[in-house]
Amino acid sequence: MPVSVVIGSQWGDEGKGKIVDLLSQEVDIVARYQGGANAGHTICWGDQTFVLHLVPSGIFHEGVTCVIGNGVVIDPVAVMEEIRMIRELGYEVEGRLFISHNAHLIMPYHKRIEQVREQARDGGAIGTTGRGIGPAYVDKFARTGIRVVDLLDRDVLRTKLTRAIEEKNTLLRGVYGAEELDVDAIIEEYVEFDKRIDPYVTDTTEYLCQALRAGKHVLAEGAQGSLLDVDFGTYPYVTSSHPTVGGCCTGLGVPPTEIERVIGIVKAYCTRVGNGPFPTELEDATGEQLRNVGHEYGATTGRPRRCGWLDLVALRYTSMVNGFTDLAITKLDVLSGLDELKVCTRYRYDGKETTRFPSEVQTLERVEPVYESFPGWQEDITEVRRFEDLPANAQRYLRFIAEQVGVEISMISTGPKRSQTIVDRGLALAAD
Ligand code: IMP
Repeated sequence: MPVSVVIGSQWGDEGKGKIVDLLSQEVDIVARYQGGANAGHTICWGDQTFVLHLVPSGIFHEGVTCVIGNGVVIDPVAVMEEIRMIRELGYEVEGRLFISHNAHLIMPYHKRIEQVREQARDGGAIGTTGRGIGPAYVDKFARTGIRVVDLLDRDVLRTKLTRAIEEKNTLLRGVYGAEELDVDAIIEEYVEFDKRIDPYVTDTTEYLCQALRAGKHVLAEGAQGSLLDVDFGTYPYVTSSHPTVGGCCTGLGVPPTEIERVIGIVKAYCTRVGNGPFPTELEDATGEQLRNVGHEYGATTGRPRRCGWLDLVALRYTSMVNGFTDLAITKLDVLSGLDELKVCTRYRYDGKETTRFPSEVQTLERVEPVYESFPGWQEDITEVRRFEDLPANAQRYLRFIAEQVGVEISMISTGPKRSQTIVDRGLALAAD
């Protein structure tokens, strides 16, 4: 069962890119299974920092093959630009990157529709990344989407695009009073894209399943976070895909029986970008400190992230949905220097306490977090490489998380670089 899945346990931006990059040293294939260029996975090595939006975070390891699965929605412009930049850094991409022929394409009209819809929501905007993700998934499920495979046949592409654009123009003009799209210009652009994407397109499901049969190890890279899952997240303030573990199977075509490890990536505090409920949000100086020290600005949009204390009600819920086998705690170093740390263990609602994560936003917006307080630590921990060398209060904080979630901690990240990580599957930080 050689599939390991890396999953964001909160609202995204947990530091998945770094952990995938680190684990890529031990695997043969890294595969993205959902989302699109809304993701921003940051990787630091040496003195370089690179943000990947679509190409899996394993691409900087020469022996690793990368797959963009059928569950991802692909922005042709973004993926070609990313390939160009990776090549410029001196890494070969052809023969090392495969794109699913079944993946759906983001079209210019998806971004336009998203823009006018968000504007029309008037106070109820989701706060999307503006990458056309939602409208592309809508078309996929409405069975009117354009897939990568459609690019390979010019006539099919022209027929499907003409039909789609006529429909979108009716919507843009009639409902939103917006400017119409030019059919010919779009066809021209996408025909051109076909020539450039061709070397990368393949049946990635067959490729992955054959690799698994041959004993290869696959690392599945989730984007966004479980609380943004369209089914299990804070609907409607979610993304339009499944960042949770099920998305790995449907987004790659690998059977669930192949999954042996589900790693939950947990930021040592919480952040959220975009709108929607966030019970432990701090709109004070501590929130500001977390944002500044943690550089909490969107890797894709540059928007300031909302910051708050760690929420164990939410984390226990996402652990339940995903079945985490182990946790990677990231950005622990950002908490250094705080006198007191708080962790939410329960919510209070209508005078009663609960450990249940409510699925209705109107409830989640009104819950009051109940906190446990911990003394902080002042030491710089960025060079610490062993759990036992962490300040006693940091150890206590981590033990509490593992006990409360009931899942062991196998990795602790103390800085953005690969080397700034405590890796130990024998940490035994789990509760009985
Ligand atoms: P969309 O995915 O662009 O449709 O945006 C839907 C919601 O998900 C918005 O609140 C976004 O801010 C959020 N979101 C999408 N991608 C990411 C991500 O990679 N990190 C954090 N939030 C994200």
